[in-house]
Amino acid sequence: MVVSALVSSWKVVGKSGMGEERPPSHRSKKGGSVGGVCYLSMGMVVLLMGLVFASVYIYRYFFLAQLARDNFFHCGVLYEDSLSQVRTRMELEEDVKIYLEENYERINVPVPQFGGGDPADIIHDFQRGLTAYHDISLDKCYVIELNTTIVLPPRNFWELLANVKRGTYLPQTYIMQEEMVVTEHVSDKQALGSFIHHLCSGKDTYRLRRRATRRRINKRGAQKCSAIRHFENTFVVETLICGVV
Ligand SMILES: *[C@@H]1O[C@H](CO)[C@@H](O)[C@H](O)[C@H]1NC(C)=O
Repeated sequence: MVVSALVSSWKVVGKSGMGEERPPSHRSKKGGSVGGVCYLSMGMVVLLMGLVFASVYIYRYFFLAQLARDNFFHCGVLYEDSLSQVRTRMELEEDVKIYLEENYERINVPVPQFGGGDPADIIHDFQRGLTAYHDISLDKCYVIELNTTIVLPPRNFWELLANVKRGTYLPQTYIMQEEMVVTEHVSDKQALGSFIHHLCSGKDTYRLRRRATRRRINKRGAQKCSAIRHFENTFVVETLICGVV
């Protein structure tokens, strides 16, 4: 009873106050609020899109900055040395620098602890499709076509090493062997691209060819092969370089 009385009194007041103007004003007010909601939601959409773009941009920026900063890895793997007479567990260490923008990888193999090959600097240039080994103990440089079934591309290798760094360790892995033969002396190192040119400048540089048929390893001593053990994938590779002059 009280409510109805209040409403009716309000009605009366409203009528007396606004007179004939009231119905259209009420309608326009309603239309205005719908428009307001529209504007508000459009504003929200624009704001949200702005936020999304901004966060994508910031994420990308920091992610790339992070990549640029974290392109250096000092890593080690354990592997079963199936190439030696006595199968032993070996450890291989190397420093890896990955250049995502320039699309190449640079690897340094320090002097191995237990006679597992020569120390070396290696460049895998994905732009040129070339690999170069600088055998540090011989101070000679060897160049061959990049083998993409052995060498992971920079981004994939980076992801592998970043996972290892984060604690997802590589399980103990294996070693495989490949054999290369020296074919010719390289005089025009400029043609090898600037990264390899820089690595090999001032060193005797040779082209390599992959030896298709694998021979027994016991010929290795007589054949004068040098070996470099390295990894740029989930397994270790021993690259034999034979016919070294
Ligand atoms: C790359 O390496 C794999 C494994 O050793 C070998 O089978 C293949 O023939 C190589 N490819 C080239 C192009 O050298």
